[in-house]
Amino acid sequence: MRYEKWYRDHTASLKGQVAVVTGGNSGIGFCAARGLLHLGAKVILACRSEARAEAARGRLSAEFDAVEIEVMHLDLADFSSIDAFAEDLGKRYAKIEVFLHCAGVYYPRGTHTVDGLPMTEGVNAYGTVRLARAVEHLLGERGRMIFTTSLVDRFGRDKTPNGEGYAAYARSKYLLSAYVLARAEGRTATEPSFIATHPGITATALLSPEKTTHKPWFSRFGHAFLYLFTHSPEKAALTAVLAAAGEVPNGAVIAPRGLFGISGYPHRTRFCKNVRRRAARGVDFMEK
Ligand SMILES: NC(=O)c1ccc[n+]([C@@H]2O[C@H](COP(=O)([O-])OP(=O)(O)OC[C@H]3O[C@@H](n4cnc5c(N)ncnc54)[C@H](OP(=O)(O)O)[C@@H]3O)[C@@H](O)[C@H]2O)c1
Repeated sequence: MRYEKWYRDHTASLKGQVAVVTGGNSGIGFCAARGLLHLGAKVILACRSEARAEAARGRLSAEFDAVEIEVMHLDLADFSSIDAFAEDLGKRYAKIEVFLHCAGVYYPRGTHTVDGLPMTEGVNAYGTVRLARAVEHLLGERGRMIFTTSLVDRFGRDKTPNGEGYAAYARSKYLLSAYVLARAEGRTATEPSFIATHPGITATALLSPEKTTHKPWFSRFGHAFLYLFTHSPEKAALTAVLAAAGEVPNGAVIAPRGLFGISGYPHRTRFCKNVRRRAARGVDFMEK
């Protein structure tokens, strides 16, 4: 396992615990799932494509006990899929210790979710929050609800922009970060901790030509640039692993500690001013 010493120094065993990872078939989610398995957790990969989820399970089972890896269907662009997932999860497990929301889109191909929301905002913010609300009761007071937001949450605006580009992405993460902070502050003793993570920047399939509306040359150039100049997805996923298995309190933000939070080992940081201002208005804006 890469970063073995870091794992030894910063994380506790998750043996006997159950962890769900949305988007666990790819990129940061896949690397985080691997880290959680390494720490002894049973991991459920919650994914929209059965084929890609099974392929990921195959890769993980080459390294870890296959019975510790489960696959479940989840499409965050469809509220009925989110509700069905939560119901099914509740039937299979009375208790979940870690719920890691990692699935997300950037410049996606579709324009709207099944329920008519703009795609980026619908998946990254509204779908993610609907899922969190639906599974929260399974986590209990010692559970950790972990969200993957982004450094660009500080550039998010209150108004939904036209189109599915950078502004839509920044807004989706801004809404998500503000939700996490507001929920962390309103947490009662019987509810799970709410933790935000920023993975920094890393080369994953997020920019791939199959998933985005970018021109293929731009996607390839972007991927190569990020691969050369930013940290690996394994290192980016340490933010999520620390949030799941480190000494991290409710309301924390975990991000890479390098320049501008782009790369590096994870450390605790704070929500930006923009997000704090939005969070002060409460969580009602997520009632969709
Ligand atoms: N990479 C970065 O530099 C970076 C920076 C900041 C934040 N993030 C955040 O990190 C998270 C993981 O991204 P990544 O970079 O690892 O990209 P990735 O490799 O493309 O992973 C994204 C995951 O989300 C899943 N997903 C997308 N739409 C979904 C939907 N409607 N329902 C369920 N799952 C869906 C994808 O499934 P498929 O494989 O089926 O498409 C994939 O498993 C995202 O939330 C992203 O915004 C990434």
